[in-house]
Amino acid sequence: MFHLGWFLGDSYGIHPWMGPWAGNVRHDWMKPGLYVDLTTSLERAGFDYLFIEDTAMVEDTLHGSMETSLKYGIMTPKNDPLVLMPLLTQVTRHVGIITTISTIQYPPYLAARLMTSLDHLTEGRAGMNVVTSVTNRVAQNFGYDQHMEHDERYLQAEEWMDVCAELWNSWEPGAFLGDQETPRLVDHTKVHTIDHVGKYFKVRGPLNTMPGPQGRPVIGQAGNSVPGRNLAAKHADTMLAFGTSIEQMKKFRADMHQRMIDAGRKPDEIKVMFLATPTLADTDADARARKEAQDKAALDAPLETKLWGLSYISGGTVDFGQFDLDEPVPELIGNGEQSSLARFYERARGKTLREALNTRVSVGEDLDFVGSPDTVAVKMGEVMEEIGGDGFLLYPQMDRRTITETCDGLGAALQKRGLVRTHYEGKTFRDNLMAF
Ligand SMILES: Cc1cc2nc3c(=O)[nH]c(=O)nc-3n(C[C@H](O)[C@H](O)[C@H](O)COP(=O)(O)O)c2cc1C
Repeated sequence: MFHLGWFLGDSYGIHPWMGPWAGNVRHDWMKPGLYVDLTTSLERAGFDYLFIEDTAMVEDTLHGSMETSLKYGIMTPKNDPLVLMPLLTQVTRHVGIITTISTIQYPPYLAARLMTSLDHLTEGRAGMNVVTSVTNRVAQNFGYDQHMEHDERYLQAEEWMDVCAELWNSWEPGAFLGDQETPRLVDHTKVHTIDHVGKYFKVRGPLNTMPGPQGRPVIGQAGNSVPGRNLAAKHADTMLAFGTSIEQMKKFRADMHQRMIDAGRKPDEIKVMFLATPTLADTDADARARKEAQDKAALDAPLETKLWGLSYISGGTVDFGQFDLDEPVPELIGNGEQSSLARFYERARGKTLREALNTRVSVGEDLDFVGSPDTVAVKMGEVMEEIGGDGFLLYPQMDRRTITETCDGLGAALQKRGLVRTHYEGKTFRDNLMAF
């Protein structure tokens, strides 16, 4: 068996709002219905978790204008996804919810307290995706003139995570007594200040609430650069990873396992989930035709939206609108998503900017999961068998048609083959994640 997650890349924000299956999403993306439909469907299909992105800014790196962001609805509008967690756990019983928390947006005490509160409220189904935020525009909403340099962000994130961990440990096991006879609610000798004084944070502690059902929430991590991997190895229960080939996935997983050992943890304490975007239809031929149509539509997308994407992943440091489209791609890594930009440059080598933009680099499609639900289920099983685990983080387009195809089509086909669970093993999100 392997694990499944759903990556909600548009977060609690606008989803694809044009085309025949978009429904009225442009008007009702902020209403509860779509998220309730998604999460109840995930549980039916045995998913471990819903993983919700977040980014707090309106981008204007391209041409120094917000026009492209607002005209096409790219990453804007977007609500704060944390508020979805109580709603979605009320309509389900098992599936875990991971929402993104940025180390530059939340001071660690606020984050640790918020996640413990949510862990109580969800009865052990809270998770957080720890990110360092990608762009200057986010940083500028939280008191910075410019975002910190890439590797320094991770140094700050390491300290931030250490403080959260100390806060979650500031109540020893057994501190809560609830003894009405003595009376004694909490044993004060088992609750400790943390007195943390570091480079970025100064926090006295202890946490002013008792540990939640999971002790600490499930920790996720999304960066694939070396500092990102080290942060994951030290703290994360699950991470998302790019999957491009069996060889690369095996290597990535082995690398993570070594880092886990170096960090003093057991390799199977992290579930490495490879991003994958399946294309499904009734028959293999229909799915192949659909994929070709999708690829063509992606290539025909307005050039400015592609230039927007590159400018964004450069961390808002490079306006890709300034270059001649018919000159070679300028080699600029910027200060943003290093692993994403590196992937782009790998494919752009020797090409002009226009040619490179017209090369498909969509995340999750290299694995070629195209076919009927049965065909894709078999293929996913084979790939997982070869790489040895742990699972896939599916990244489908968000609309009700795709939810049904993925959960009731592919999900059920995976369950039928015994590749994905038909019932949940444990009580909490972490119990289920660590069950195999
Ligand atoms: C699939 C994926 C999802 C991500 N989700 C978020 C997010 O929700 N919010 C955010 O600020 N950064 C997000 N990131 C950015 C990463 O957390 C990280 O900051 C970025 O990838 C740069 O890290 P790296 O250089 O280690 O790859 C995401 C990255 C990837 C690849």
